[in-house]
Amino acid sequence: MLPRAAYVDPAVFEWERRHFFGAGWMCVGRSDQIPEPGGQRAEAVGEGSVLLVRDEHGVLRAFANTCRHRGHELLPCGAAAQQKVIICPYHSWTYGLDGGLRAAAGFKNQPGFAARQWGLTELPLAEWHGLVFVGGSATAPPLADTLGTLEEIVAPYELERLVVAGQHDYETSANWKILTENYHECYHCPAIHPELCRVTPPRSGENYSAGGTWVGGWMQLRDGMATMSLDGASHAVPLRGLDAEGLRSVIYVNIFPNVLVSLHPDYVMVHRLVPLAADRTRIECTWAFAPESLARPGFDPGYAVDFWDLVNRQDWRACESVQRGLSSPHAVPGPLSPEEDAVYQFVAMVARGYQGEPVWNPGLPTWTSATPAPAG
Ligand code: FES
Ligand SMILES: [Fe+2]
Repeated sequence: MLPRAAYVDPAVFEWERRHFFGAGWMCVGRSDQIPEPGGQRAEAVGEGSVLLVRDEHGVLRAFANTCRHRGHELLPCGAAAQQKVIICPYHSWTYGLDGGLRAAAGFKNQPGFAARQWGLTELPLAEWHGLVFVGGSATAPPLADTLGTLEEIVAPYELERLVVAGQHDYETSANWKILTENYHECYHCPAIHPELCRVTPPRSGENYSAGGTWVGGWMQLRDGMATMSLDGASHAVPLRGLDAEGLRSVIYVNIFPNVLVSLHPDYVMVHRLVPLAADRTRIECTWAFAPESLARPGFDPGYAVDFWDLVNRQDWRACESVQRGLSSPHAVPGPLSPEEDAVYQFVAMVARGYQGEPVWNPGLPTWTSATPAPAG
């Protein structure tokens, strides 16, 4: 485990917000949340927020959500708007959808004032299979370069084609890393997830060993189970791009720092973590299905949504207890079991980041193969 301070110290959290959530790529939502030109939405990134805008050519762009006049937010965080221009609510400076300043009352003939100097600050934006990522700094390497072979794993699911049919927003009293670590192991499944264990045996999977800013693994469905639901039955159609192995597996992937993508034979669940404080995290959880599933008469996504809502809440309860346990000054880091090798990959990424190195997962630690773990 990481040192206790990593989970409870507000100073560590502020550092993470600046460096993990404000400097590299971070998922800010889905492309389909801003479908039309003129659509606007503000989302937290790092220490501030970004304004996501779909311009008149249909291209999604990200700007720092801070007016060039005196810094008012252009939209409150979490709010959305639909209009042909971007208007600051404070003194009505007006920007085009390209971020250029169009109007500033009283400045028209002011000597020395050149509107072109006062456009919004644009940030790198990348769309990846329907998910929107913003780069906190202009020097971030291209998103695709940081994901490496994850592309081959995710592409057959055609996430960009799927339609969200269920959403739950949770607010948990747990550090974002406790939630992520919990996501990366099923060592806890026999103790707290009886329903999940009925459809996937906790030890049925393996973790990937590939380089990139992600960690992930897969689990196998039990014979006779079509997907993750209370009775193992699916009420949707299988995703069309999957091979026989894809139809028998559930893949769990975490793209650093804040998005968990769970790929099922017939739907994709995405958890987007928004860190609020060292001990508080908001989680937006969505379930997306093929359009042909939604077109079925009487289609009800509840078989997937209700199953995972139950499991999610079991997880949040455990994570909140870990947070309380770690708030004890007597808490000291414990050892990870061999079944927690993906947790190890994740905490090693975090630790590299703390040391000022790139957050990059080189894959499984070598001792998890045939060789026994080093003593101590
Ligand atoms: S701060 Fe935006 S118009 Fe004044
Ligand atoms: Fe769990």
